[in-house]
Amino acid sequence: MKKKILVVAGARPNFIKIAPLLQELKIYNSEFEPILVHTGQHYDFQMSQIFFQELDIPSPDINLEVGSGSQALQTAKIMEAFEPVVMAHRPWLVIVVGDVNSTLACALVAAKLNVLIAHVEAGLRSFDRSMPEEINRVVTDCLSDYLFVSEESGVRNLEHEGLGDDKIFFVGNIMIDTLMTNMPAIDRSGILTNLGLRKQAYSLVTLHRPGNVDSKQAMEQIANILETIASRIPVIYPIHPRTRNLLKDHNLEERFESVEGLKMIEPLGYLEFLKLVKESLFVLTDSGGIQEETTVLKIPCLTMRENTERPVTIAQGTNCLMGLDQTKILRRCNEILSREPKMSTIPKYWDGKTAQRIVQILRTADSENHPSFQEIFQNISPP
Ligand code: UD1
Ligand code: UDP
Repeated sequence: MKKKILVVAGARPNFIKIAPLLQELKIYNSEFEPILVHTGQHYDFQMSQIFFQELDIPSPDINLEVGSGSQALQTAKIMEAFEPVVMAHRPWLVIVVGDVNSTLACALVAAKLNVLIAHVEAGLRSFDRSMPEEINRVVTDCLSDYLFVSEESGVRNLEHEGLGDDKIFFVGNIMIDTLMTNMPAIDRSGILTNLGLRKQAYSLVTLHRPGNVDSKQAMEQIANILETIASRIPVIYPIHPRTRNLLKDHNLEERFESVEGLKMIEPLGYLEFLKLVKESLFVLTDSGGIQEETTVLKIPCLTMRENTERPVTIAQGTNCLMGLDQTKILRRCNEILSREPKMSTIPKYWDGKTAQRIVQILRTADSENHPSFQEIFQNISPP
């Protein structure tokens, strides 16, 4: 009998993570029956549907259409809508990815119905409980039966929390599978011409963390930082809808629009956005995924946060933590403008084969003679 799996995705970074997983599960369609559940946490075309089109993700089998809300309301709405789905389908496994409210809500529902849970991107910790994502990560990991980890710090964190060794699988970074698969299409994107940009002659910004955008004071500081940078190099800023709404609430739209050299645009699809990252001189961000993509693309990343749950991007990659410290940010920008790169290497298993590792583990999940990971991984060809 086929193993029925509910694959959950709700927000922009989730779609990018499930694409390779669904493609790999399809290869073994005599063994697995995946059912794709979109929670509806993100719903604008540019935050959702465009990723399905570009990354060839099948249309969701079920859309819970929960939409936006406060932390508790959104989580509760997803739980309420997901419970009958799990009860109707009685899956063997629920797969959740990342650290958004959809991840936590669906893991909680599955756990209470005694359904196995796999968490892709387990073990990451910022150790900052003021971030909703950190709470989502800790609770989801605690409930999960398969903890698929993207970087070695995640293994250490999970062991430290006493989660059993037999549940922890260091499989690498699934976002990099998507990046590698789509590199030819990214290279074909005409976004630079459309925006009148030259390679290595502009910077790129994304910001959406509550710590940066919810307070007017932080947004004013950000406007000052971007103004100084834009006086030296053009800044392209695709604005997340959360931030766009808050700019209106804070009455700061005009302040941002008046900054010369700063171009604010709508959120971009995956291919255009990654093309902009790949050809930029540097990226300023508070995103999780972008810290990882810049490391692989070897583009300097200035993370406008005090901490990161992805420390390998600092230890090995191109990432530097900046907070909102204007002096520090400008010093680093000047270094980059004078072509002083940070030496970097690509982390282990960020090689485009993470979905293969995950599915091979799931294929052996029921067998009595559980092979070691080394044996499973030996069957996956080297990069
Ligand atoms: C969520 C995740 C965050 C992730 C980010 C990816 C949580 C707690 N946060 O943050 O970890 O990094 O997604 O982008 O799950 N909105 C729209 N259209 C949309 C979606 C949202 O206008 O399609 C607006 C709404 O006003 C909404 C606000 O953005 O209230 C915030 O959306 P929400 O999904 O709650 O959180 P994000 O900030 O997007
Ligand atoms: N991204 C995109 N278009 C944009 C901004 C980001 O396609 O305009 C991609 C980005 O390359 C990465 C993912 O969205 O793959 C990250 O999403 P986000 O920053 O919203 O979430 P986080 O990773 O912080 O949870």
